[in-house]
Amino acid sequence: MKASFANKVVLVTGASRGIGRAVALAFAREGAQLVLAARSVEVLAQVEKEVRDLGSEVLSVPTDVTSHGAVTALVDAAMNRFGRIDVLVNNAGIGKVGGIESAAFEDDVHQTLRASLFGMINVTQRVLPILRQQRSGTIVNMSSVMGRKAFSRFGSYAIVMHAVSAFSDSLRQEAADSDIQVSVIHPALTATDLLREAEEAEMPPPFRHMTPLSSEDVARAVTKAVRCGKRRVVLPRTANMLLLGEALSPRIGDFIATALTQRPIAGLLGMSRGKTYHETILSNPSR
Ligand SMILES: NC(=O)c1ccc[n+]([C@@H]2O[C@H](COP(=O)([O-])OP(=O)(O)OC[C@H]3O[C@@H](n4cnc5c(N)ncnc54)[C@H](OP(=O)(O)O)[C@@H]3O)[C@@H](O)[C@H]2O)c1
Repeated sequence: MKASFANKVVLVTGASRGIGRAVALAFAREGAQLVLAARSVEVLAQVEKEVRDLGSEVLSVPTDVTSHGAVTALVDAAMNRFGRIDVLVNNAGIGKVGGIESAAFEDDVHQTLRASLFGMINVTQRVLPILRQQRSGTIVNMSSVMGRKAFSRFGSYAIVMHAVSAFSDSLRQEAADSDIQVSVIHPALTATDLLREAEEAEMPPPFRHMTPLSSEDVARAVTKAVRCGKRRVVLPRTANMLLLGEALSPRIGDFIATALTQRPIAGLLGMSRGKTYHETILSNPSR
């Protein structure tokens, strides 16, 4: 077993399922001690057991990241148990699908901001002083490809993911004087429960045939980002072509986004290689 994170204390939010669960298990396989946070008590306890079965010390603390009191209790519990925090993975979040003209749009933005951005700010503000005192540590923030290029019908999510990217950029520069590393991860569509409630027809056209990443793909990118001190990771790498096009001109970005609606072009970029998001999700139990 690789033990790159032996005795390192890793706090993962949104650890009850999906990417957060995979991240927790990936760090556990590399020898880390884990602190797990999410709201669902029973599911979190199952992940705690999975981590313990891998031989790692683990503490799970049911937490709503939007609550200042709950986050203070989480960080206090982590410090009482382990005495330090080496890595914080700010992963908890939600996502909604719907056009800007839909009646729910404004509410979707508020809800997503609250969980995915203000939750992240809340946890970061409580952990950062500890990392500063240690003069070491890493904060990983989960954004999305949509934190750099929005798609139609994902406006509320993309607004918040752009905000997460900007928050990470400011944080990285503010924390640099304390040797604190900040990484931001931008995964493309991933096979988790995030969009399970959305009908396939509601998704923007390219997403209807895209093959999702697995949570394990994203977890590997997270552990590598921490190990190698990467500031920003986009996955799959081919998504960088879209982001480069967008950086040059929104016309080019939109052209590539539209081209991705053609399955062969998405296939050429490695984004349509097999089962779609809905085919993958429907063949997997909720997790
Ligand atoms: N799936 C994708 O396509 C994709 C792509 C790029 C980026 N991401 C990002 O990856 C992150 C994880 O998403 P996922 O895809 O793994 O979705 P998921 O399977 O729905 O998991 C979301 C996690 O966040 C937790 N969570 C949500 N609200 C919370 C709150 N207020 N307090 C504490 N925990 C909360 C959930 O646990 P409880 O419900 O138990 O609280 C769950 O553990 C999100 O930030 C998402 O934006 C996802």
